[in-house]
Amino acid sequence: MLESREWYLAAYAAEGIPTSDHLKLRTVVVDIDSIPDGHVALESLFISVDPYMRTRLTGLQDGISLHQFQRNQLINGFGAGRVIRSNDSNYKEGDVVLNPFSPVAEYCVIPSRFLRKLDPTNGIPLLDHFNSLGPPGFAAWLGIEVLGDPKPGSNVFISAASSAVGLCAGQLPKIRGCRVIGSTGTDEKVKLIKEKFAVLNHVNPHARIPLCGMISQYNKVWTEREGVRNLLNMVGKEVKMEGFIISSYLDRFGDFAEQMESYL
Ligand SMILES: NC(=O)c1ccc[n+]([C@@H]2O[C@H](COP(=O)([O-])OP(=O)(O)OC[C@H]3O[C@@H](n4cnc5c(N)ncnc54)[C@H](OP(=O)(O)O)[C@@H]3O)[C@@H](O)[C@H]2O)c1
Repeated sequence: MLESREWYLAAYAAEGIPTSDHLKLRTVVVDIDSIPDGHVALESLFISVDPYMRTRLTGLQDGISLHQFQRNQLINGFGAGRVIRSNDSNYKEGDVVLNPFSPVAEYCVIPSRFLRKLDPTNGIPLLDHFNSLGPPGFAAWLGIEVLGDPKPGSNVFISAASSAVGLCAGQLPKIRGCRVIGSTGTDEKVKLIKEKFAVLNHVNPHARIPLCGMISQYNKVWTEREGVRNLLNMVGKEVKMEGFIISSYLDRFGDFAEQMESYL
């Protein structure tokens, strides 16, 4: 038996910034002495706190529409853990694994079928699996390589270019020989973007716009979210805008990992 602290959802936050009224910490006892078949006990090493988690705390099924966390249940995210007990012959004590559904807890017992074991001999730092080789890199790769597919010499615009996704998304078109323009959130840069680079006013005919996220809207209910006044450009210029969620493209993860590792 082990004592473990875990974060759980006490109440939904439909709008505004979630507080300690919504997410609370509690201590539970985890039974690591009788682990079911096909399960392992993990000690958490890292858990990524990502923007999409906010959309799972609303109690509403709109916008990104990911499954809502359940009230009084611990929350989860993309994480890495060390195996401390195993009831699966593919895993042994000391293995370091990635877990897309890591409970936000110090210890847990979980089914091993979603885990990916890391090879300690390949020299890839663990935290690379949280950025360029993890969900942000995968989102960037899907947006650029799969959906956007920019031709050499074309212009590529990256919003939130200093974000985890944006940093990767800015590099990939450069490797293809594109011209990359990015926006970030300082006052000075926002002014520049609003006055000079209102992107849809300058979009090229037949441009492709992969829609990755809208972090500035996550704390608002849909009636309060901002509208876009220059969408009509998309009609005249026959622009294609396409939203995507990385979990729908897991069959491409192997292609992504192979290509991205070659760039490191
Ligand atoms: N579609 C998918 O499957 C998928 C997968 C992963 C991520 N995403 C989305 O991709 C986006 C970036 O994710 P990330 O993990 O890279 O995020 P991140 O590293 O946390 O960075 C978020 C960036 O957004 C900007 N930002 C923060 N709050 C903002 C606000 N209220 N208004 C405007 N900008 C704000 C900041 O830029 P400045 O520092 O320049 O202010 C920050 O760099 C998010 O919308 C996320 O939901 C989607």
